[in-house]
Amino acid sequence: MPKKTKAAKLKDTAAVPLGTERVKLLLPHSKIQKRIREMAKAIRADFPTEPLLLLGVLKGAVLFLADLARQIPGEVTFDFIAVSSYGKDSRSSGQVKLNKDIDSSIEGKTVIVVEDILDTGLTLRYLLRILQQRKPKNLRVAVLLDKVERRLTDVHADYVGFPIPNEFVVGYGLDYAERYRNLPDVKILSLPGETH
Ligand code: IMP
Ligand code: MG
Repeated sequence: MPKKTKAAKLKDTAAVPLGTERVKLLLPHSKIQKRIREMAKAIRADFPTEPLLLLGVLKGAVLFLADLARQIPGEVTFDFIAVSSYGKDSRSSGQVKLNKDIDSSIEGKTVIVVEDILDTGLTLRYLLRILQQRKPKNLRVAVLLDKVERRLTDVHADYVGFPIPNEFVVGYGLDYAERYRNLPDVKILSLPGETH
Protein backbone atom coordinates (compact mmCIF):
# COMPACT_ATOMS: atom_id res chain seq x y z
CA MET A 1 0.00 0.00 0.00
CA PRO A 2 1.34 3.47 -0.86
CA LYS A 3 1.97 5.70 2.11
CA LYS A 4 -0.86 8.19 2.63
CA THR A 5 -0.31 11.91 2.90
CA LYS A 6 -1.63 13.72 5.94
CA ALA A 7 -4.34 15.32 3.81
CA ALA A 8 -5.46 11.92 2.50
CA LYS A 9 -5.63 10.56 6.04
CA LEU A 10 -7.76 13.50 7.15
CA LYS A 11 -10.02 12.94 4.19
CA ASP A 12 -10.51 9.27 5.25
CA THR A 13 -11.53 10.35 8.72
CA ALA A 14 -13.94 12.94 7.35
CA ALA A 15 -15.60 10.26 5.23
CA VAL A 16 -16.76 8.41 8.36
CA PRO A 17 -20.23 9.79 9.14
CA LEU A 18 -19.67 10.41 12.81
CA GLY A 19 -20.68 14.08 12.84
CA THR A 20 -19.42 15.70 16.00
CA GLU A 21 -19.85 12.60 18.16
CA ARG A 22 -16.71 11.96 20.12
CA VAL A 23 -15.48 8.77 21.71
CA LYS A 24 -13.13 8.30 24.65
CA LEU A 25 -11.47 5.01 25.57
CA LEU A 26 -12.95 3.23 28.59
CA LEU A 27 -11.89 -0.42 28.26
CA PRO A 28 -9.17 -1.48 25.84
CA HIS A 29 -9.62 -4.74 23.96
CA SER A 30 -6.79 -6.49 25.85
CA LYS A 31 -8.36 -5.71 29.22
CA ILE A 32 -11.71 -7.02 27.99
CA GLN A 33 -10.10 -10.26 26.79
CA LYS A 34 -8.30 -10.78 30.10
CA ARG A 35 -11.52 -10.33 32.05
CA ILE A 36 -13.41 -12.67 29.71
CA ARG A 37 -10.85 -15.41 30.38
CA GLU A 38 -11.53 -15.01 34.11
CA MET A 39 -15.30 -15.05 33.60
CA ALA A 40 -15.08 -18.20 31.47
CA LYS A 41 -13.08 -19.90 34.21
CA ALA A 42 -15.62 -18.90 36.86
CA ILE A 43 -18.51 -20.20 34.76
CA ARG A 44 -16.83 -23.55 34.14
CA ALA A 45 -15.85 -23.83 37.81
CA ASP A 46 -19.51 -23.45 38.79
CA PHE A 47 -20.59 -26.14 36.31
CA PRO A 48 -17.55 -28.40 35.86
CA THR A 49 -19.25 -31.17 33.93
CA GLU A 50 -22.47 -29.66 32.56
CA PRO A 51 -23.10 -28.97 28.89
CA LEU A 52 -23.72 -25.20 28.76
CA LEU A 53 -26.11 -23.36 26.50
CA LEU A 54 -24.94 -19.79 25.94
CA LEU A 55 -27.97 -17.71 25.09
CA GLY A 56 -26.88 -14.46 23.45
CA VAL A 57 -29.11 -11.42 23.37
CA LEU A 58 -28.91 -9.96 19.87
CA LYS A 59 -27.22 -7.96 18.67
CA GLY A 60 -25.03 -6.35 21.30
CA ALA A 61 -23.83 -9.56 22.94
CA VAL A 62 -22.53 -11.20 19.76
CA LEU A 63 -18.87 -10.22 20.13
CA PHE A 64 -18.84 -10.94 23.85
CA LEU A 65 -20.44 -14.36 23.33
CA ALA A 66 -17.98 -15.24 20.58
CA ASP A 67 -14.99 -14.48 22.80
CA LEU A 68 -16.48 -15.95 25.98
CA ALA A 69 -17.45 -19.22 24.27
CA ARG A 70 -13.91 -19.77 23.02
CA GLN A 71 -12.59 -19.57 26.58
CA ILE A 72 -14.98 -22.10 28.12
CA PRO A 73 -13.72 -25.67 27.86
CA GLY A 74 -16.07 -28.64 27.50
CA GLU A 75 -19.45 -28.85 25.84
CA VAL A 76 -20.90 -25.51 24.87
CA THR A 77 -23.73 -24.67 22.47
CA PHE A 78 -25.16 -21.31 21.38
CA ASP A 79 -28.57 -19.89 20.74
CA PHE A 80 -29.81 -16.34 20.28
CA ILE A 81 -32.79 -14.28 21.26
CA ALA A 82 -33.75 -10.77 20.16
CA VAL A 83 -35.74 -8.30 22.21
CA SER A 84 -36.66 -4.66 21.81
CA SER A 85 -38.28 -2.06 23.98
CA TYR A 86 -41.56 -0.46 23.07
CA GLY A 87 -42.01 3.27 23.01
CA LYS A 88 -39.82 6.21 22.16
CA ASP A 89 -37.15 5.64 24.78
CA SER A 90 -35.64 2.57 23.23
CA ARG A 91 -33.27 2.10 26.13
CA SER A 92 -35.53 1.75 29.10
CA SER A 93 -39.26 1.95 28.53
CA GLY A 94 -39.62 -1.22 30.52
CA GLN A 95 -42.00 -2.77 28.03
CA VAL A 96 -40.12 -5.42 26.19
CA LYS A 97 -41.04 -7.31 23.05
CA LEU A 98 -39.61 -10.64 21.94
CA ASN A 99 -38.51 -10.23 18.30
CA LYS A 100 -36.75 -13.55 17.82
CA ASP A 101 -37.20 -16.55 20.05
CA ILE A 102 -34.66 -19.32 20.63
CA ASP A 103 -34.58 -22.23 18.21
CA SER A 104 -34.97 -25.13 20.63
CA SER A 105 -36.22 -26.08 24.09
CA ILE A 106 -34.20 -25.09 27.16
CA GLU A 107 -36.01 -27.47 29.48
CA GLY A 108 -33.54 -29.30 31.74
CA LYS A 109 -30.56 -27.38 30.35
CA THR A 110 -27.98 -25.19 32.02
CA VAL A 111 -28.49 -21.83 30.37
CA ILE A 112 -26.21 -18.82 30.63
CA VAL A 113 -27.87 -15.68 29.30
CA VAL A 114 -25.15 -13.55 27.70
CA GLU A 115 -25.88 -9.80 27.59
CA ASP A 116 -23.75 -6.86 26.60
CA ILE A 117 -24.82 -4.45 29.32
CA LEU A 118 -27.08 -4.32 32.32
CA ASP A 119 -28.58 -0.85 32.56
CA THR A 120 -32.01 -0.40 34.19
CA GLY A 121 -32.34 -4.19 34.28
CA LEU A 122 -35.82 -4.13 32.77
CA THR A 123 -34.87 -6.10 29.65
CA LEU A 124 -33.19 -8.79 31.68
CA ARG A 125 -36.03 -9.01 34.16
CA TYR A 126 -38.45 -9.69 31.30
CA LEU A 127 -36.12 -12.22 29.69
CA LEU A 128 -35.51 -14.13 32.91
CA ARG A 129 -39.23 -14.31 33.54
CA ILE A 130 -40.01 -15.95 30.22
CA LEU A 131 -36.98 -18.24 30.34
CA GLN A 132 -37.72 -19.42 33.86
CA GLN A 133 -41.19 -20.53 32.74
CA ARG A 134 -39.51 -22.94 30.34
CA LYS A 135 -37.94 -24.91 33.19
CA PRO A 136 -34.21 -24.82 32.57
CA LYS A 137 -32.12 -26.87 35.01
CA ASN A 138 -30.02 -23.80 35.84
CA LEU A 139 -30.41 -20.21 34.64
CA ARG A 140 -27.52 -17.78 35.06
CA VAL A 141 -26.61 -14.39 33.62
CA ALA A 142 -23.29 -13.14 32.29
CA VAL A 143 -22.96 -9.47 31.36
CA LEU A 144 -19.88 -7.70 30.12
CA LEU A 145 -20.82 -4.31 31.56
CA ASP A 146 -22.92 -3.29 34.53
CA LYS A 147 -24.17 0.29 35.01
CA VAL A 148 -24.95 -0.29 38.65
CA GLU A 149 -26.29 3.24 39.32
CA ARG A 150 -29.02 2.97 36.70
CA ARG A 151 -30.79 -0.09 38.07
CA LEU A 152 -34.57 0.25 38.41
CA THR A 153 -35.27 -3.35 39.41
CA ASP A 154 -33.48 -5.81 41.67
CA VAL A 155 -32.31 -8.10 38.86
CA HIS A 156 -28.64 -9.07 39.10
CA ALA A 157 -26.03 -10.79 36.97
CA ASP A 158 -24.10 -13.82 38.24
CA TYR A 159 -21.01 -12.97 36.21
CA VAL A 160 -20.08 -9.33 35.61
CA GLY A 161 -17.17 -8.21 33.47
CA PHE A 162 -16.87 -4.59 34.57
CA PRO A 163 -19.02 -2.28 36.68
CA ILE A 164 -19.01 1.02 34.76
CA PRO A 165 -20.09 4.60 35.49
CA ASN A 166 -23.35 6.04 34.20
CA GLU A 167 -22.10 6.98 30.73
CA PHE A 168 -23.32 5.94 27.30
CA VAL A 169 -20.84 3.44 25.92
CA VAL A 170 -20.26 1.98 22.47
CA GLY A 171 -18.01 -0.58 20.84
CA TYR A 172 -17.32 -4.27 21.28
CA GLY A 173 -20.89 -5.02 20.18
CA LEU A 174 -22.60 -2.00 21.74
CA ASP A 175 -24.14 0.50 19.38
CA TYR A 176 -25.42 4.00 18.99
CA ALA A 177 -28.08 3.89 16.23
CA GLU A 178 -26.52 0.58 15.05
CA ARG A 179 -23.08 2.12 14.62
CA TYR A 180 -19.82 1.53 16.50
CA ARG A 181 -20.51 -2.18 17.21
CA ASN A 182 -17.32 -3.08 15.36
CA LEU A 183 -14.93 -1.13 17.62
CA PRO A 184 -12.55 -3.55 19.39
CA ASP A 185 -12.60 -1.42 22.57
CA VAL A 186 -15.42 -0.09 24.74
CA LYS A 187 -15.60 3.69 24.50
CA ILE A 188 -17.63 6.47 26.07
CA LEU A 189 -19.69 8.34 23.49
CA SER A 190 -20.26 12.06 23.81
CA LEU A 191 -22.95 13.53 21.62
CA PRO A 192 -22.85 17.06 20.17
CA GLY A 193 -23.68 19.56 22.90
CA GLU A 194 -22.44 17.39 25.73
CA THR A 195 -19.53 18.82 27.63
CA HIS A 196 -17.51 15.69 28.42
P1 IMP B 1 -31.98 -2.18 30.30
O1 IMP B 1 -33.27 -2.87 30.01
O2 IMP B 1 -32.18 -0.73 30.67
O3 IMP B 1 -31.09 -2.88 31.29
O4 IMP B 1 -31.27 -2.02 28.92
C1 IMP B 1 -30.40 -2.90 28.43
C2 IMP B 1 -30.17 -2.60 26.96
O5 IMP B 1 -30.09 -1.20 26.68
C3 IMP B 1 -28.83 -3.17 26.58
O6 IMP B 1 -28.94 -4.50 26.19
C4 IMP B 1 -28.40 -2.24 25.47
O7 IMP B 1 -28.93 -2.70 24.26
C5 IMP B 1 -29.03 -0.92 25.80
N1 IMP B 1 -28.07 -0.01 26.47
C6 IMP B 1 -28.10 0.39 27.75
N2 IMP B 1 -27.06 1.19 28.03
C7 IMP B 1 -26.35 1.30 26.89
C8 IMP B 1 -25.13 1.99 26.55
O8 IMP B 1 -24.47 2.68 27.34
N3 IMP B 1 -24.70 1.84 25.27
C9 IMP B 1 -25.36 1.09 24.34
N4 IMP B 1 -26.49 0.42 24.63
C10 IMP B 1 -26.99 0.53 25.89
MG1 MG C 1 -28.64 -5.25 24.11
